[in-house]
Amino acid sequence: MATSALLYPNLTLGEDGHLLFDGLDTVALAEKYGTPLILLSEDRVRAHCRTYREAIEAALPRGSRALYASKALSFRQIYPIVESEGLGADVVSPGELATALSAGFPAERIFFHGNNKTDADLRFALERHVGTIVVDNQEELARVDELAGEVGLCQDILLRITPGIDPHTHAKINTGRIDSKFGSAIETGAAEAITAAALAAPHVDLRGFHCHIGSQIFDATPFLDAAEIMISFIARVRSEHGFTADTLNLGGGFGVRYVAEDPEVDIAAHVRVLGEGIARACEAARLECPRILLEPGRSLVADAAITLYTVGSVKEIPGFRNYVSIDGGMTDNPRYTLYQSKYTMLTANRAADPADFTATIGGRCCESGDLLGEGVAIARPARGDLLAVLTTGAYTYSMASNYNRVCRPPIVIVHDGEDRLAVRRETFDDLMACDL
Ligand code: LLP
Repeated sequence: MATSALLYPNLTLGEDGHLLFDGLDTVALAEKYGTPLILLSEDRVRAHCRTYREAIEAALPRGSRALYASKALSFRQIYPIVESEGLGADVVSPGELATALSAGFPAERIFFHGNNKTDADLRFALERHVGTIVVDNQEELARVDELAGEVGLCQDILLRITPGIDPHTHAKINTGRIDSKFGSAIETGAAEAITAAALAAPHVDLRGFHCHIGSQIFDATPFLDAAEIMISFIARVRSEHGFTADTLNLGGGFGVRYVAEDPEVDIAAHVRVLGEGIARACEAARLECPRILLEPGRSLVADAAITLYTVGSVKEIPGFRNYVSIDGGMTDNPRYTLYQSKYTMLTANRAADPADFTATIGGRCCESGDLLGEGVAIARPARGDLLAVLTTGAYTYSMASNYNRVCRPPIVIVHDGEDRLAVRRETFDDLMACDL
């Protein structure tokens, strides 16, 4: 039995050995919509939103909230789902902002990030009355101030600070150290300098600070370390500049389970640990606790989705390895190519069969690095079988490309036993839509 591959309770086995997703037959869904196909469970996204919301309400100061880091998965229908669960949203580009606004997400609950917002980006956000701009550096601060003046408003801002924490995660997804393109570092004095400049700027209203230490972190400790550093920075700013921050944004959320060996994170317990630590640190600094914002992306959507592919050629190279080719790959999920990220996979039309075959899963691109995994244990597949890759909700569709002019897959949302198309499959006409 391959049941150990059924990582989450919404993945079950049908009587005919088919993989069921939220109770629906994946083989039937693949027939209906074609492959590659992304299935997203609305109930799981909602459940994760509630877990954060309840944990935050129970353990963090009043006014604290989660913001959905929509870079993880941005398409119109995701925004009303997280909005109705009471979350705010974080966007990192005018494209994400435009998508959120066009889906009716309230502008005042949106935080606009990015290490290099252009004047056009800033103007776009200011004119649409985005709630908060997270300002990365001094140059940007000057531009926000000037453009806000031109638009005729006083813009709420947070300053992105690098607290200098290395959470021991993959280097390419580690954004909180001093040597980083993001934010202003405390150690170098840049953080204090930008704070003084923000306090003197007439068209911005400094509300507090933001930091982000990295992604796919399983432990509460690095977050707590960052919070303590930020709180002592806030206390110093108060005594030296007379400014008390009312908001501390601690950045991205916790890690998720891609493979059975990954730990299962107890989000409520981690938030509790964080809340206790923050209360202690604020008390020691004689500081009223600021409201805390968290920006989970991955942990809201990653394990709410799977991707289904049709198996093409199966090549056994004696003495070397077995290649199983699928009709997608790095174009819809570049994470193995970029980070060697591990995934759990199973042959969805024979999900009860033993995983007795070790395979390298190859994508369809003319590129040897186009792989979804190596040393993957699955039931021996044959042409026409259906391969399910689990935990593909975050940073897959949002990082998809049209390399080799491959069309991006559709997203089907499953909710209350029904499936609905939320993003249609790209067509060749879409591929050529910008070509003159
Ligand atoms: N806030 C900020 C400022 C961030 O930079 C990020 C992620 C998040 C929130 C959300 O973090 P999460 O809760 O998803 O861990 N493409 C990489 C991940 C890059 C993450 C970048 N920042 C991957 O596929 O693993």
